[in-house]
Amino acid sequence: MTVADKLGGIQEREGSIVIELAFSILAADFAHLADEIALAEKGGGTIVHVDVMDGHFVPNITFGPPVVKAIRPITKLPLDCHLMIENPDEFIPAFAEAGADMVAVQIEACRHLNRTLQLIADHGMKPGVVLNPATPVEMLVEVLPMVHHVLVMSVNPGFGGQKFLPRAVERIARLREMRAEMGLNYRIEVDGGIAHDTVASVVQAGADMLVAGSAIFSPGKTEANAREFLKVARTAGAGGE
Ligand code: DX5
Ligand code: ZN
Repeated sequence: MTVADKLGGIQEREGSIVIELAFSILAADFAHLADEIALAEKGGGTIVHVDVMDGHFVPNITFGPPVVKAIRPITKLPLDCHLMIENPDEFIPAFAEAGADMVAVQIEACRHLNRTLQLIADHGMKPGVVLNPATPVEMLVEVLPMVHHVLVMSVNPGFGGQKFLPRAVERIARLREMRAEMGLNYRIEVDGGIAHDTVASVVQAGADMLVAGSAIFSPGKTEANAREFLKVARTAGAGGE
């Protein structure tokens, strides 16, 4: 196979990647979670992003498997669980039981990352790995063949509504290059401060699962926000601004 053939193959594969909005329910009105999810879905969101925080790995506490179980019957969309917790292995079976489709663990919380990713896959879920802004992307090289997605944090995890850290753009571009070099097809997800004014840069770098919370959920505007966000993202993905 020539280099040109190989590149052609990569572009073909990339051409089939769909840009998706993974709306983070952390920014939703928890008293009306079902309605909030329905509105974001109506606006074009296709993944429910669930931010699980334990008060140890990050300085905040959110929700766990019972909330995943509660939202499982109200939507057909995949549930993408982002575990910002210590000892994720302990909780992986409970997330599977609750109905999670994808589970991503923070590399910084995993002593035996290979084992943890295998455990997620063994429970029938798609394994992902998450990198904090200070963690070099090269640390993932050994596990990239095992993952369904790599999640690049573009803020320090723990809270919604933080400012986007622009170094994420280079990190995403490097992960896209590594994917081509290694002949893999993991998806690239980005999370934190992704909004109408930052989304084009991450899409152009190669992100295709776009997490957004505060840019989407807003009383009376959720559906329109999701629609507009996806329009900007897909225009950037198609080569426009
Ligand atoms: C941060 C979470 C994010 C956060 C995104 O720790 O992982 O998913 O909710 O929120 P926004 O889009 O408001 O930055
Ligand atoms: Zn998240």
